[in-house]
Amino acid sequence: MSSFPEVAPLDSLACWRSFAQAAQNTPVNPQRLCVLKAGGLLVDTSAQRASPELAQATEALLQARQFETWREHLLTGQVVNLTENRAAWHSALRVPAPSQQVAGERERMLDFVRLADAERKWRNVVHIGIGGSDWGVRLCIAAFGYAGTWRNVRFVSNIDGHAIEGGLAGLDPHETLVVVSSKSFTTSETMQNAHRALEWLKGAGIQNPYNHVVAITANAQAAREWGALPSQTFLFWEWVGGRFSIWSSVALTTALAVGIDTLAGMQAGAHAMDQHFATAPVAENAPVQLAVSGVVNRSVLGYGSLNIAPYDFRLGYLVPYLQQLEMESLGKSVDLNGNAVNVPTGPAVWGMPGTDAQHTFFQWLHQGSDGAPVDFIVCQEANHGWREAHHTHLLANCLAQRQAMLTGKSYEQALQECRAEGHAEEHAQWLAKHRMHTGGRSSNLIVLPRLSPYTLGALLALYEHKVFTQAVIWGINPFDQWGVEYGKVLAKGITQELKGQAPLNGGHDASTRYWVEVFRG
Ligand code: F6P
Repeated sequence: MSSFPEVAPLDSLACWRSFAQAAQNTPVNPQRLCVLKAGGLLVDTSAQRASPELAQATEALLQARQFETWREHLLTGQVVNLTENRAAWHSALRVPAPSQQVAGERERMLDFVRLADAERKWRNVVHIGIGGSDWGVRLCIAAFGYAGTWRNVRFVSNIDGHAIEGGLAGLDPHETLVVVSSKSFTTSETMQNAHRALEWLKGAGIQNPYNHVVAITANAQAAREWGALPSQTFLFWEWVGGRFSIWSSVALTTALAVGIDTLAGMQAGAHAMDQHFATAPVAENAPVQLAVSGVVNRSVLGYGSLNIAPYDFRLGYLVPYLQQLEMESLGKSVDLNGNAVNVPTGPAVWGMPGTDAQHTFFQWLHQGSDGAPVDFIVCQEANHGWREAHHTHLLANCLAQRQAMLTGKSYEQALQECRAEGHAEEHAQWLAKHRMHTGGRSSNLIVLPRLSPYTLGALLALYEHKVFTQAVIWGINPFDQWGVEYGKVLAKGITQELKGQAPLNGGHDASTRYWVEVFRG
């Protein structure tokens, strides 16, 4: 156990009650303007609830939750993951002068990439990993390699055999590097897929298939026992949580695809955000302000989800990346004392890049009965040359959707419109009821000057720290995932049963028992 005192139930705190009351009493104000500068990004929180009372209650709440102590412990590598007795020190991977251990492993990894580049080796890379060992790499390569890369990178994550079948199909094994990325080196999806890839290499007559394999892991022993060459095994450490591992050797595939400079750029941007988080006063601290409005939206106003709307085609994988970061971290309902948290915690996170999202589910956000807060993310400048013809439209759509959600359209406005269109009065009154928007729906707008490794790094760190701050307020551990672990154990047992072996985990419910029988054949 840590030296932290007991975490009081939130609703037993007077400051929580003041916080909740202040939030309820403060509607979103369309005339408010609040743009925070953080790590090279602009974070516009204007369309969130804000008042002097809420700001004061926020300060008191953070103090009651010992936010500053937790933050210091996070950023100095002390144990913050109490159920697994670990630090969560991903920030140490992006400081300008990392420890010898970190710098040494990074150099080994970069040397591997430099040599491969110098020799124009590995035309194809098959990256095998799942969750944190996958999403960040996909995100970076889509962000910076959207227009194609010299190396053809394929991702295989799913245990579904069609994934590895498709992932390897058509590739020349002699030109292919298989990257097996797994912190634990025990994840069944990854190990099964890695096994298939090895068979594929062997089947092509490659003498030592391990020459074509790189292992990235925190479990050196398991990788060695599996057969990975030590010279092609790149390590990271227990104190790097799986969902933060894009900052570790897991980024090797990123470097192979979009260049080693990408990594340094991302580290610099993330470090700038770390510093902002560590030092900016609460009112100007972007991750803290995003966290506070997230808690208001979820725990006070009861919104069950958060929509992520990147107005950038290149950031499609940001959605699943943030789903893992937010939902694996905040999908908890027990506090650090083991008591039920008595307010709703982490929202469901979902989304899609705009403008596609506008033609998919935005109607629900505009006029649905529930709605959800939205994080709009956009780059002020594009990297292509069609500003007028494309980027201006993208920017306009982003601003327009946000405005519609914020200011809405009153019945009177809608009626005027309908009359102006020449509808008969009775019809106009009926139609106006369908065309009005309530508005008052909260959102954030996060503006990157341009998509670069630096700004992407800052963006990811912004969300990391937001999530951490929310966990501190809710009093939960954002660094474990016991629910997922339980699912893995059950799946192992059922797999064994389906193969005709003795059950591992005791009995099943009636339906599972039925289907185990059916699937066993
Ligand atoms: O989804 C559960 C999880 O443990 C994640 O936290 C992790 O990113 C993923 O599985 C993959 O784990 P590993 O990198 O150990 O294969």
